[in-house]
Amino acid sequence: MKAQVKSILVITPDAAVSKAIGAALGGDPGLKVDTKASTLTQLNGQAVKFAQEHDFIIFDTDPGSEADLRAIEDLARNRREGTILLALTSSDISLAAARKLTRAGVDEVLPYPITGAELSEQLERLQARSTPEPARGGGARLGRLIAMAQARGGSGSTTVALNLADALTGKGGFLHRADKHSVALVDFDLQFGTIGSALDLDEQDALLKLAQDGNVPDLRFLEQSMSKIPGGLSVLPAPSKFAPVDALRAEQVAAILDLLRQTNDYVVVDLPRALVGWVEPVIEQADELLIVTDLAVPSVRHARRLMDFFKTVNVGLQTTVVLNRESRPLMRTSVHKEAATALNSKLEFWLPQDDKAARAAVDQGKPLTAVASRSPLTKAIGQLAKAITKALPATARVGATR
Ligand SMILES: Nc1ncnc2c1ncn2[C@@H]1O[C@H](COP(=O)(O)OP(=O)(O)O)[C@@H](O)[C@H]1O
Ligand SMILES: [Mg+2]
Repeated sequence: MKAQVKSILVITPDAAVSKAIGAALGGDPGLKVDTKASTLTQLNGQAVKFAQEHDFIIFDTDPGSEADLRAIEDLARNRREGTILLALTSSDISLAAARKLTRAGVDEVLPYPITGAELSEQLERLQARSTPEPARGGGARLGRLIAMAQARGGSGSTTVALNLADALTGKGGFLHRADKHSVALVDFDLQFGTIGSALDLDEQDALLKLAQDGNVPDLRFLEQSMSKIPGGLSVLPAPSKFAPVDALRAEQVAAILDLLRQTNDYVVVDLPRALVGWVEPVIEQADELLIVTDLAVPSVRHARRLMDFFKTVNVGLQTTVVLNRESRPLMRTSVHKEAATALNSKLEFWLPQDDKAARAAVDQGKPLTAVASRSPLTKAIGQLAKAITKALPATARVGATR
């Protein structure tokens, strides 16, 4: 079989950079290197056209520039299947800045200067990763990870996790775009998880099995372990039998997240209350952490402590406060203002108390959209889903024809 020649486009205004890359890769007969002497933003919409024509795009970027990040998002959304985006940045880039780039859709952040050997090695590795699995199309998709934490037991984090995940599928018509998202929901509340019963799923002990045998799961294991509910949501429930809270290993959790992010547009994770070590990979990978709270002073304080703690694990973590069982006030009182200050949040998301809808959903074992599609709580969670898809658009939807 003839090896295919791969084409690389280098976009940089810096002649020294393009020359160095050209020299590093020029000797490889399997590679065709083109260069554009420009910045990404200067190329405007043109960059998207190039993204359709190359296997790799390497560009200079400044993660501090909003315009660059927008241009990258545009590129990521419109690239052809399998095109890999590589950002060159100075080698002292902060973790938070690197995360901004990956969030925008960059597959790999490369420090510059980089040696020719290092660059070739990276390209080879990425190429191997993007070789399509026959059933799935390209491997470039990396779903957005949304983690859910609660200020106190009963805050409503499970209710929000489940119904947000359901709304993110887009089938309820909350999303403008006609296309649907594939969404996975994981109940990592090992001991007290209620998602399985809230959706009336058969008992299922995949997470317990992992805890007991210590294996790192693969895609097959996950696919066998996940239940698909009408509407398209895939669910990995907590074990129905008792599992010690520290039973999972960080490596297992990281593998679950990696696999689910490769095969879904969004992954929503309900966290346990206990801050055990294996929660770290969730916080490290999360694009967004939602904290569900009410306005009572102890809840607000605890929410703040949680936010501060999670930021020690991931400095760049985006946190969003969701006020549950609280209607959006017409006028903000001192209570609202104090909470906003304590939480360092604009308090944008308010979910009303809605006993009728919440009760009907639990009784029937279905998401809110299925039992009370027009209720105030359903609508408010739909708005939250819409805001999230806007802030975190699904990355390039390669092979998403499921
Ligand atoms: N906005 C709301 N209005 C009415 N009931 C709610 C609301 N949010 C949650 N509930 C109910 O409160 C209970 C606890 O919610 P849950 O999501 O399990 O909390 P958590 O996961 O934070 O412990 C559930 O019975 C749920 O149906
Ligand atoms: Mg819960």
